[in-house]
Amino acid sequence: MKKILIGTMVIGGFFTLSHAAEKYDTRAFRIVTKLCTSCHGTPFYMAKQLDSDDWAYFFDNEKKMMKIHKNKPKGMASLKNKLFQNHKKRLKKFFVKNSKDSGAVHGCDANFCGTHH
Ligand code: HEC
Repeated sequence: MKKILIGTMVIGGFFTLSHAAEKYDTRAFRIVTKLCTSCHGTPFYMAKQLDSDDWAYFFDNEKKMMKIHKNKPKGMASLKNKLFQNHKKRLKKFFVKNSKDSGAVHGCDANFCGTHH
């Protein structure tokens, strides 16, 4: 009986862990990789550069974000890209969730393997 109980707990723990590993928005991850990584580093690295309220601020004040990229045609193109414009909400969520003060740490998966730049 004891063995069955422990077995159940181990399996339960395994499912919790594997679920946690998928706990970020992989679509947002891919969009950021495509549009921002060339200058800002991997999406998680990029997210970690700012606090959650800074990310919220920039996404709520898109003009400010544009202004910062004024002299970076590639950056401007990214911010005006349909992928960015159509998925702003989930990108904001992704950055806030993975920000400097979020405490989120990611291990290896198919998209990302624990390096931070
Ligand atoms: C062509 C290069 C380039 C691309 C592409 C680019 N950026 Fe930037 N971004 C910059 C530079 C340069 C700065 C100014 C960094 C500084 O002043 O420290 C910046 C600054 C920022 C800032 C202000 C906070 C900070 O880190 O200084 C935000 C927010 C930001 N970028 C978001 C984005 C997002 C979101 C994307 C993708 C949709 C993106 N950027 C794509 C070059 C780029």
